Amino acid sequence: MIELIKKLPKAELHLHIEGSLEPELMFRLAKKNNIDIPYNDIEDVRRAYNFTNLQTFLDIYYAGANVLMTKDDFYDLTWEYILKCVEDNVIHTEIFFDPQTHTARGVPFAAVITGIKEALDDAKEKYGITSCIIMCFLRHLSQEEAFETLEEAMAFKDDIIGVGLDSSELGNPPAKFKEVFKKAKEAGFTLVAHAGEEADFSYIYEALNLLGISRIDHGVQSIKSAALMQRLKEEQMPLTVCPNSNIELKVFDSYQAHNIKALLDYGLNVSVNSDDPAYFKGYINQNFINLCENLPLTENDIITLVKNSFRSSFIDDELKEAYLARVDLALQ
Ligand code: HPA
Ligand code: ZN
Repeated sequence: MIELIKKLPKAELHLHIEGSLEPELMFRLAKKNNIDIPYNDIEDVRRAYNFTNLQTFLDIYYAGANVLMTKDDFYDLTWEYILKCVEDNVIHTEIFFDPQTHTARGVPFAAVITGIKEALDDAKEKYGITSCIIMCFLRHLSQEEAFETLEEAMAFKDDIIGVGLDSSELGNPPAKFKEVFKKAKEAGFTLVAHAGEEADFSYIYEALNLLGISRIDHGVQSIKSAALMQRLKEEQMPLTVCPNSNIELKVFDSYQAHNIKALLDYGLNVSVNSDDPAYFKGYINQNFINLCENLPLTENDIITLVKNSFRSSFIDDELKEAYLARVDLALQ
């Protein structure tokens, strides 16, 4: 099974680039940029990565992102993630970034997006890895601030395929961002949103009905509503599930208690993703391995999860078919 996981080409659809900041790079950038971080050494960092819910993670994740200051920092961050893609046989990746986390500290939007984009261009050239970039609004901030960010993003419209919604979910429902999502859609952005990670399934309904998203990030709470499950199945609405994240943030008590197998068996379009791999103990293959070691997933389940990742991606149909053919080829 582990061999199968490793040999299959994969797409990753739920990856926060700031969440791929490994402690080693955090220390290097902190020193270079003269930024204080609340850790003495790597051991100290690992000890701090002990979360009880989404918010306890976010506090540490935003503190870590403070070391990212220049275009080159964002290049290096993205390049390190690309090397993990090479290792894990990820041939297409759709990357989230949080512009507000950086512009609030005085880092120019242009430095963030250009650093990420240049690394992704080099990834295409050197490894043939394709990618796109999705900008997320921080939902703990106001819709007004999201509008300002959207305005700033317009100068980089060609480099950003979509708009998403992340950060503190509880108390910040999708409805809060209805107008800015409408404007983003009119501007031609593809829409996604984190929904039903910690908060209940009503957030998933809101994301679908009020924001008009075409992919749900996490969405694991959908299992609490039979009607929603039915709808998600009929529409084959993609759910980008992140197992390690869900365990580390205590959405489920254990891998055995994770519902991904149940979602899959019901016929939902789910994929496996790493979310914030530097914080959640592993990249995409490790997510698959942890599932396989704890749930009765079959080889066919693995193949379905991998094929779903390509089917649910935002690449054109021709490239989708080519990538699905590569999965089949790897299976021969
Ligand atoms: N949920 C919400 N916001 C986030 C996450 C997440 O899993 N990762 C990074 N920002
Ligand atoms: Zn996420």
